[in-house]
Amino acid sequence: MPAALIDRLRQARRVVFFTGAGVSAESGIPTFREAQTGLWARFRPEELASPEAFRESPQRVWDWYAWRRSACLAARPNPAHHAIAALQRQWPDSVLITQNVDGLHRRAGSVEPLELHGTLHRLACFACGRDAGDWPENPPPSVPRCACGGQLRPAVVWFGEALPAATLRRAVEASEAADLFVSIGTSAQVYPAAELPLLARRQGAWLVEVNPQPAPLSALADLCLHGAAGEVLPALAASLDLGCVDSPGASL
Ligand code: APR
Repeated sequence: MPAALIDRLRQARRVVFFTGAGVSAESGIPTFREAQTGLWARFRPEELASPEAFRESPQRVWDWYAWRRSACLAARPNPAHHAIAALQRQWPDSVLITQNVDGLHRRAGSVEPLELHGTLHRLACFACGRDAGDWPENPPPSVPRCACGGQLRPAVVWFGEALPAATLRRAVEASEAADLFVSIGTSAQVYPAAELPLLARRQGAWLVEVNPQPAPLSALADLCLHGAAGEVLPALAASLDLGCVDSPGASL
């Protein structure tokens, strides 16, 4: 593990961990586009994850998210999730910002990640917008209703929708204040989330990218670790003597 990163981490006061679908790849969670396989391959993303799609066919959208959620529940956090949770315990003022909706960071023990694109594990009312709580353990086959009569939807951000304002504001503030910004498993091409590493870099943060493939961010990073998150993050935690990090943390 490069000494420069170890030194930077040891000196860091405001660390941001920024994750995308790649951090869950080793848990077997398909990325958004990979999730359109089999039965779902015939639909365009906008036909499954947009307000228009839900208006046109609420049951199809509900079924796709029910299928994705069951895949997430069947998956387990991988060593990358556990290593990030261990690093956060070592740097308690650090902030975890994720684009993922799978809930695996929470199950690995990360506390209050900023879930920019929401979460598959909670519902909201499509009509009145209220938070409708956790996805029920035994969900009904048909789309459930809110007390207002509106239909309930997954509490994720769909195409054409704004990100949750308070969460985005906290993510921007953390990125602008960061002295070390670690981007893990994201193509960093979907805005406004993709703006966060650029904001951090502009404010003078040291930018690290963890990705097995070169990505648009690679050219801007101060350090590129070209490897799988499930290998790189545990190696980083081990270099810092954080011990064995693949023990399960809290779970949903
Ligand atoms: N470890 C680290 N990175 C990995 C791994 C791995 N094991 N496997 C793949 N990657 C990298 C890929 O190289 C790619 O750069 O993870 C990145 C995943 O990119 P995307 O599939 O575009 O996912 P993400 O960046 O999270 O997309 C952002 O776009 O699809 C929408 O709303 C969805 O939140 C998602 C957003």
